[in-house]
Amino acid sequence: QAEDGIRDRSPSRGLGDVYKRQVLPLSMNVDADQLKRAAAEAAFEYIHSGMVLGLGTGSTVRPLLKLLGDALASGSLAGIVAVPTSIDTELQARAMGIELIGLSDRPAIDLTIDGADEVTPGLDLIKGAGGALLREKMVAQVSRRLIIIADDSKSAERLGLLSPLPVEVIPWELKSQVRFLESRGAEVAIRQSDDGDPVESDNGLLFLDCWFPGGIDDPVSLEKAMQARAGIIESGLFLGLADEALIASEGGVEVRRRSE
Ligand code: A5P
Repeated sequence: QAEDGIRDRSPSRGLGDVYKRQVLPLSMNVDADQLKRAAAEAAFEYIHSGMVLGLGTGSTVRPLLKLLGDALASGSLAGIVAVPTSIDTELQARAMGIELIGLSDRPAIDLTIDGADEVTPGLDLIKGAGGALLREKMVAQVSRRLIIIADDSKSAERLGLLSPLPVEVIPWELKSQVRFLESRGAEVAIRQSDDGDPVESDNGLLFLDCWFPGGIDDPVSLEKAMQARAGIIESGLFLGLADEALIASEGGVEVRRRSE
């Protein structure tokens, strides 16, 4: 604890190296929630007083919101404002006493911490199982640094092997987008709630969840094709956006950094 009451939260190593930080005993039988918490705790170390933060969405980010709320309440962190990436995160952050601003209020965000559904060794991602991909990508694109937190079940050698690629589309003539995505090799399901209704996003749009048998061959060209397609608003492909990933396993939290 520094004299001014603000803890130094710098990561212990410089950029460019990959190291393992032991945070959980190997012998302990940890469950997924404990791993998510360990990743969130590791990411919390990167937060400094006075920062503009981007707050991701999902169950891995949730413990981070609590840590941040507690730190603000105790005064160990101060002067932080944050942009939430979903209505869900907005409600949780508000309840934790975190001061929120809009994306338009600042030209840039210092640091965004978010979860993911898949993380490759090169730090490409699939996101959006929780439905927040559009706002998450808008926030990520204006962030000076994007840190991804996940448990090791999200670690994938290749995108599309573990989870479907969510694609957010306008509801009008949905089947035409299904056909388009099928022509790119996807098996497509309209995301539905338990009662069988299509799930509506925070933006009033719908989701097509796309499985690619064997994974996504060429994520860059798929991304380009989707960007060129009217009616497809955004996809959960996050290519080249993440700077670091903190991946928690029983052995500890592995810090992966993009090597330029
Ligand atoms: C939200 O739409 C997603 O992008 C989440 O960030 C992602 O699904 C990870 O969520 P969990 O942390 O709950 O696994």
